[in-house]
Amino acid sequence: MNAQPHDIAAVESLLAFWRDAGVDACYGDAPVDHTHVAPPPALKAVQRATASVAPPLAGHAAEDAVAEARRLAAGAATLQDLAAAVAAFEGCPLRGMGATQSVFGRGNPNAAVMVIGEGPGAEEDRIGQPFVGKAGQLLDRMLAAAGLTDRVFIINTVFWRPPGNRTPTPQEQAVCAPFVERAFALLKPRAVLLLGAAASKSVLQAEEGIMRLRGRWGEWRLAEGGVSAPVMPTLHPAFLLRQPQAKRQVWADLLSLAVRLETDSVEEQG
Ligand code: URA
Repeated sequence: MNAQPHDIAAVESLLAFWRDAGVDACYGDAPVDHTHVAPPPALKAVQRATASVAPPLAGHAAEDAVAEARRLAAGAATLQDLAAAVAAFEGCPLRGMGATQSVFGRGNPNAAVMVIGEGPGAEEDRIGQPFVGKAGQLLDRMLAAAGLTDRVFIINTVFWRPPGNRTPTPQEQAVCAPFVERAFALLKPRAVLLLGAAASKSVLQAEEGIMRLRGRWGEWRLAEGGVSAPVMPTLHPAFLLRQPQAKRQVWADLLSLAVRLETDSVEEQG
């Protein structure tokens, strides 16, 4: 049976829902010995329907791409330079997978808070700025309610739209990471807010699901340059659009962030 486009869209939407809920592994009903048994047909169909994942960069290509990203990122003295460096970078496989332009960042270049999302969606790809679609509008409303509107700079773990809004692969994130790290080093934010599982796992190099990670302060420390900041993982606003009752948790995380900023600045002044 051939899958119709609306079936594929439904499967992709369901998978996105599970992913946002923190489900990061796929199991069939019956136990499967993954050491030598092929996945069951239903799983294979899901994998085929969502298989728009770029073939991984082969051999030294991934290392070369990361090295080139590091070189370009290191040459950027401002966030504006960095945006130009990202736009000039050709090493990310997502570039050739239907994205129309690079999407770097938006917000206050002297922000106290760096916000990191997963990757651009259709609206972001069209406009060239992160978080400008429905999820972005919700994010802006929540940031405003927490008094953070002018205190954030927002970017993503990857700078090109993954096809079908799938989650970026760890390799795609690794290739873009030097630019994310350089943004962190240039901004030197007082805190970092990570939106969703993909950003949280990538930045914190964590294995746990977002439901475990969220609401707990961590630390992001760059190996080079001595830059570090407290990090708060929270749920992705796209998840909140599907599960509005989870807004309570994100609200608690945002308040924790706002309180920490206030407490730190009182301590700095005193
Ligand atoms: N979701 C993200 O993670 N980033 C965007 O820029 C938009 C939606």
